[in-house]
Amino acid sequence: MRQEVVFRMGIPVQNASGQAIGTLEKLVFLETEKKITEIVVRDFSSLKRVPLVWIRELTEHVLVLDHPGTLEDLPVFDISQFEEVPTWFYPPGYRIELGSLLTLKPCDERFLGESEAMSRRDFMAKSTGLVATLIGISLVVPIGGYVLAAAKTKLSDHWITLSIRLDQLPVDEPVSHTFNAVSVSGWMRVPVVRTVWLIRHSGTTDPLSVSEDQILGLDSPLEKSRSSPLLTVLSPICPHLGCSPQWFSGKKLFICPCHHSIYEMNGKRIGGPAPRPMDQLPVQIEKDGAISILYEEFQVGIPQKIRLS
Ligand code: FES
Repeated sequence: MRQEVVFRMGIPVQNASGQAIGTLEKLVFLETEKKITEIVVRDFSSLKRVPLVWIRELTEHVLVLDHPGTLEDLPVFDISQFEEVPTWFYPPGYRIELGSLLTLKPCDERFLGESEAMSRRDFMAKSTGLVATLIGISLVVPIGGYVLAAAKTKLSDHWITLSIRLDQLPVDEPVSHTFNAVSVSGWMRVPVVRTVWLIRHSGTTDPLSVSEDQILGLDSPLEKSRSSPLLTVLSPICPHLGCSPQWFSGKKLFICPCHHSIYEMNGKRIGGPAPRPMDQLPVQIEKDGAISILYEEFQVGIPQKIRLS
């Protein structure tokens, strides 16, 4: 079995002559090759990218480079070109200590071996199932009657009129809109705060006025009949695993921070692991520009758009 490599952030970095030339600051992980390829060293004036193969010795207290001089000629580490990722992106076989300074390129699940991806999914599915079972056992006896009564009650759809009108929205610039709603399931009525993406279009001539859900035929009859060429409403929930994609105005793209699914303004997925576009929600525009929407949630992780409630 391969020995674990431990990087301790902040330890001194020396050149081949034993001269101190900086400190270890970050690691760079190349997602396509699923391995750490560079270290980032603060050489007293700036951050420099140093190839991993230059490491001659790595101990708990020092990192020695197989390089005779300073790091002057090496490329400067430009943080805007990289993204910090959480600890569970670390590739197997590496351990990082004092890790708050760690920077890695994100590891996309598509590049994991299938068995590793499967075992991660299995683990998630089993642990979710176990927790659900435990919660279920603790609830089913005392409130079983109410649960059965709720299950027989038809779920109702609730349209809500937003506090913003169409003419208050910018054209071709998604706006995140938050509103108060009441989630209804059988006998339960729970006040909730919801958010949706509102994307106003200039009209039918705008190619992005047709959501990708419509183009792919993923919409239900209700969603099909309640859409507008003037406004697309997108769910804030990433259809991959449920994170919240954010709009990047400069790039004109939605990007999900969790596993970097990338979507165009009409929800079309153009990168990342998401199995379908961002979900379009039903909308109705009144003559005075009032906007009513129907908030829906859908099953994540599957290519079909299956409504949850
Ligand atoms: S949750 Fe995985 S890409 Fe959005």
